[in-house]
Amino acid sequence: MSATILVTGGAGFIGSHSVDQLLSEGHHVRVLDNFSSGKKRNLPEHPRLEIVTGDVRNRADVDRAMDGVERCLHLAAQVSVARSVSHPDESAQHNVMGTLQVLHAACRHGLSRVVYASSAAVYGTPENLPLSEGARLRPLSPYGLEKWINERYASLQHQLHGLSTLGFRYFNVYGPRQDPQSPYAGVIALFVDALRHNRSPTVFGDGGQTRDFVFVADVARMNARALFSEHQGVCNLATGKASSLLDLIAALNTLLESQQVPRFDAPRSEDIRHSLGATARLHKWFGLKEPRSLEDGLKALIEHDARWTAQGPQEGQMA
Ligand SMILES: NC(=O)c1ccc[n+]([C@@H]2O[C@H](COP(=O)([O-])OP(=O)(O)OC[C@H]3O[C@@H](n4cnc5c(N)ncnc54)[C@H](O)[C@@H]3O)[C@@H](O)[C@H]2O)c1
Repeated sequence: MSATILVTGGAGFIGSHSVDQLLSEGHHVRVLDNFSSGKKRNLPEHPRLEIVTGDVRNRADVDRAMDGVERCLHLAAQVSVARSVSHPDESAQHNVMGTLQVLHAACRHGLSRVVYASSAAVYGTPENLPLSEGARLRPLSPYGLEKWINERYASLQHQLHGLSTLGFRYFNVYGPRQDPQSPYAGVIALFVDALRHNRSPTVFGDGGQTRDFVFVADVARMNARALFSEHQGVCNLATGKASSLLDLIAALNTLLESQQVPRFDAPRSEDIRHSLGATARLHKWFGLKEPRSLEDGLKALIEHDARWTAQGPQEGQMA
């Protein structure tokens, strides 16, 4: 059964993959994006895709974009942890007030479901690993706190107005279309870029820190699935497998047939040592039993980059 779905931040990294997924399932998709970091070239020309340029902080823009929509995937955000520290007021405007606009509009327009992007940043320094959804939340940045506030608002909108919501706590998402030129690029995009250009990847600290890397196509599939489920609350979107930065560099060196050794820099004070998501709820609610392995995901990313370099950007095409 096809639906009309609004994707805020749909021109961004996770957003554009989610749009591809929803189109492939036969839905009508409307994107609302202010193109601050998103790009038109991330989106395909498609008869069932409509693009609205606007801002989630602006009530009129959100109303216009939500007209006639049944479900919403809300991803638009100021995504930089560092910027949330240097500009907390601006960050909260995008991330808290923007989300509140979307949730409130969803109630006014009678939407049946809102799925939104939370983050593993809500946890802060873990007391135990893997991190399950019931773990204590102690965010270390305004960004993490903003995502937590959004979870509380979503839960209240459910309580007050019956709005059905699900917040995904994404761990470290990677894959094609993550821009290494962005000052906020994820570590995988930065390492691939360094190795491709015969530069040593920079590691802050000793490289023994671990992360739970989740492939973007899996995230897009879970977003689509969650839009059509009834599960209410929050859920980790992780693989349950930890990889160190040194493991990552070794895997990339093998795949790219390079032999770069990392350049070690001073550890960053805001970095946590280990992060790993518990996946029981994800398995139970959304059935992601076999997420793409890091090796397969990196292979797909590198093949996509090679095609991109050889042929130029293929609109909306993914690995
Ligand atoms: N990438 C990750 O590893 C990760 C991890 C945890 C959470 N998240 C969350 O997932 C979501 C998507 O992140 P991403 O990695 O795709 O980032 P991204 O920067 O590629 O996408 C964000 C999109 O939102 C748009 N946008 C920003 N502010 C806006 C505004 N005020 N109004 C309208 N559009 C606006 C941008 O132009 C961009 O297209 C974000 O909410 C982010 O906080 C991402």
